[in-house]
Amino acid sequence: MIGEYVKPGISTEDLDNVCNAFILKRGGVSACIGYHGYPKFTCISIGDTVCHGIPDSKTILKDGDIVNVDVTTIVDGYYGDTSRTYLVGNVSKEAAKLVEVAKKCLEIGISEVRPGNRFGNIGYAIANYAEKFGYGVVRDYTGHGTGIYFHEEPYIVHKAPKDSGAKMEAGMVFTIEPMINLGTHKTKLLSDEWTVKTFDGKLSAQFEHTLLVTEDGCEILTVAD
Ligand code: MF3
Ligand code: CO
Ligand code: CO
Repeated sequence: MIGEYVKPGISTEDLDNVCNAFILKRGGVSACIGYHGYPKFTCISIGDTVCHGIPDSKTILKDGDIVNVDVTTIVDGYYGDTSRTYLVGNVSKEAAKLVEVAKKCLEIGISEVRPGNRFGNIGYAIANYAEKFGYGVVRDYTGHGTGIYFHEEPYIVHKAPKDSGAKMEAGMVFTIEPMINLGTHKTKLLSDEWTVKTFDGKLSAQFEHTLLVTEDGCEILTVAD
């Protein structure tokens, strides 16, 4: 629902408040505020911010930006974690391609989710695709088990050797959330101790869903009903 508000001129704090009002209206609460001291309801990451951008009244979207909105809610004790990257106004071809490939990376990762497949094949498939474009696949942050906690095992890396890791089993719930960089995969943490930027200042894009492993494949839990 936040997509219709993503326009040049709006502050990331306004987007954060719109998300929170919607979450509350639907019977949830934000999992982010207060999590290890995190100060806002969502994470909003523009441009070369990889993840965990802190919404701020002075941070205003402008034409040509790419912006990720990452929302995690708790409903009846259960966590759901999802994000997508939006194009703000007219975006360069280079940025739009990065966002398109990042979206495809999530879809490719999801297509590996079924009982008996190994977690490493998620990261193997994602990196194999993203690196064809010369993009960097972030290694410093991962997908994660979730459900009754925000983050728990297993941690799902988005670049991995083929057939590595544990086997997926029906009933497991976890996220896939590839962060794909135009340049280097390396990141740096700002002094606010939340905001993660690309090391080289180039763009980064991300998409995330929470998945349930079912008997015959997977269900995406974070889609609109
Ligand atoms: N939603 C992020 C994730 O995908 C985590 C944000 S933690 C916060 O795992 F504290 F910054 F909200
Ligand atoms: Co997550
Ligand atoms: Co998230």
